[in-house]
Amino acid sequence: MKTKIAVMVSGGGTNLQALLDAQKSGILTAGEIVLVIASNAKAYAITRAEKAGVPAVVCSRKELGSQEAFEAAISQALADHGVELIVLAGFMSILSENFTSQWPRRILNVHPSLIPSFCGQRFYGMKVHEAALEYGVKVTGATVHFVNEVPDGGEILLQKAVDILPGDTPEVLQKRVMEQAEWILLPQATQMVSEEIGKGKVQ
Ligand code: GAR
Repeated sequence: MKTKIAVMVSGGGTNLQALLDAQKSGILTAGEIVLVIASNAKAYAITRAEKAGVPAVVCSRKELGSQEAFEAAISQALADHGVELIVLAGFMSILSENFTSQWPRRILNVHPSLIPSFCGQRFYGMKVHEAALEYGVKVTGATVHFVNEVPDGGEILLQKAVDILPGDTPEVLQKRVMEQAEWILLPQATQMVSEEIGKGKVQ
């Protein structure tokens, strides 16, 4: 039986698309995306889910009023769909320890730098690439890691380095990091962990 996966998103959803494509192309075989959870109703990722025939629900921290209500709504959606593995793919809301502790080694995140550089609560999305360019590093990359109570602090699963080139803008660099690292690593790590969970189910 395939591991049931929820992908949590906030924006464009290109990493969600990479996971959906990986299912089609046979890179992701041990798991199946059964649910997409978006932190806001405007996320284009919802359209990607709909196009792929995957149910999508919106859980907005702002609309639900409190962290507790937000996480309760997420937990309910996960339970309704029998989810066993959560993949954060550009999910920009913070999950509390109360939530993450219920999913040990069951939440993956993709971060667009080589952790421990340019990571933690202040660094997300384009800000990560702006910071790398501002610092002047010549190599950046992406990291897939397990999620625990420390923002970007969980065990690292996969990393890949990407060159920074003269004249790079944050937008150009973001695209290169996605193409050369994120869209490859995230499906690979999701397959690895889905397989592990699958083996556990057999025991
Ligand atoms: C990706 O670059 C992802 O690594 C980053 O946001 C982008 C989302 O793009 N995530 C973080 O910064 C999390 N700290 P997408 O919606 O097109 O997948």
